[in-house]
Amino acid sequence: MRLAICPGSFDPITLGHLDLIERAARLFDEVIVLVLSNGEKDRGMFTPGERLRLCEKAVSHLPNVRADLFDGLLAVYAKEKGAVALVKGVRTGTDYDWEYQMAWINDGLYKGLETVLLPASPTYCFFSSTMAREMIRHHQDLTPYLPQAVVEELEKGNDYAK
Ligand code: PNS
Repeated sequence: MRLAICPGSFDPITLGHLDLIERAARLFDEVIVLVLSNGEKDRGMFTPGERLRLCEKAVSHLPNVRADLFDGLLAVYAKEKGAVALVKGVRTGTDYDWEYQMAWINDGLYKGLETVLLPASPTYCFFSSTMAREMIRHHQDLTPYLPQAVVEELEKGNDYAK
């Protein structure tokens, strides 16, 4: 069983994330979508529990994918689970520069843990969770950008625009 992890802050999970997760699920036997904290940059529109629940709903159609939450270092979690790879999406050169550094930090923490970088689909490469949060704050329709599960959650009327 070759297990890969798709890590992120998923605040919230977007269709770009989901595209990446579906591609990872075709490359590996099992995939864990792991909700982590993005350190000091984590602004937290959704609580970690909400992010996890939205991820679970968004991947419920994928039999070899599950979601989890971890409050710690990604490499420590990967070692605990025996994962062989991290799968990340790359939209731009800036993403690549960052992911290159993260890949070798994570390799240093758990020797041999591979980072697989997949080019983001052109359909979603301009979009980000940051933009989603901005649009949510201004009550825009996010159907073209977010998984149906997230859109439904927003339609319930919870005030995430705080
Ligand atoms: O979706 P994001 O915000 O780009 O995801 C970034 C994330 C959460 C994957 C990254 O910040 C991370 O790996 N956080 C966990 C802490 C960690 O392992 N840091 C690297 C070693 S210092």
